[in-house]
Amino acid sequence: RAAMAARRGALIALEGVDRAGKSTQGRRLVEALREAGHPADLLRFPDRTTEIGQLISSYLGREKNLEDHTIHLLFSANRWEHVPMMKEKLQQGITVVVDRYAFSGVAFTSAKGNFGLDWCKQPDVGLPKPDLILFLQLNPEAAAERGNFGQERYETSSFQEKVLQCFYCLMEDKSLNWKTVDASKSIEDLHREIKSIAKETMQEVQNKPLGELWK
Ligand code: TMP
Ligand code: MG
Repeated sequence: RAAMAARRGALIALEGVDRAGKSTQGRRLVEALREAGHPADLLRFPDRTTEIGQLISSYLGREKNLEDHTIHLLFSANRWEHVPMMKEKLQQGITVVVDRYAFSGVAFTSAKGNFGLDWCKQPDVGLPKPDLILFLQLNPEAAAERGNFGQERYETSSFQEKVLQCFYCLMEDKSLNWKTVDASKSIEDLHREIKSIAKETMQEVQNKPLGELWK
C-alpha cells in the first residue's frame, strides 16, 4: 500500500484596505505558528526585491511611469516568479502567509476604470489558490485616524474607496474561502482571532490538494 502523502501547508492570503494591519498581522501570525511548532513563512506582494519588483517599486514611488496594462501584468509576473518556491514550501508542509495577493492586483487595476474584471483576473488564473483569504475590514474614518497616507501612487482616499468596492465584488465569488475580520479591534485581539481561523484552515486542508485560482 502506498504511503500516505505528507501533509501540506496552507496558503493564507491577507487582504484589506491600507492601514488595516495586514503586514503587522502577517508577521504576528507567522511568529505564532512557528512558536506553536507549525512551519510557516511570510511573503509580501509586491516583492520589491526582484528585478520586476524594483520596476514596480519605482512605479509606485512615481520615479517611473508605466502604462496601466503594463504595470498590471508586472504585478502578476511578480507573483508568478514566486510560484515554484511557494508550491515547494506548501508541499513540504510549510504554511505560506501572503501579505496581499491577486485580489489586490485585480482591485487596484479595476479601480482605475476602463478595465473589465475578467481582463484583470486573467493573468493570475492558475496561481496557487489560497485556502483562506482574510479580509481585514476597517472603515475609512478609522483608517484615517491611524495616520496620513504616504506619498506613493494609489494612496488617496478617493482611490482607496474605489478599491474597496472592487474588493467587495471579488468577495461575491463563493468558490473562494473569504473570511472578513474586524480590523478595528486591538492588534492582540485581531491576532488571536486570525490565529484561530488560520489553525482551523490548516487542519482542514492538510490532506486536500492545492487548488488553482479562478480555474
Ligand atoms: P504595499 O503598500 O503593500 O507594499 O503595496 C503597494 C501598492 O501596490 C499598494 O497600493 C497596493 C498596490 N498593488 C497593486 O496595485 N497590485 C498588486 O497586484 C499588488 C500586490 C499591490
Ligand atoms: Mg503601501
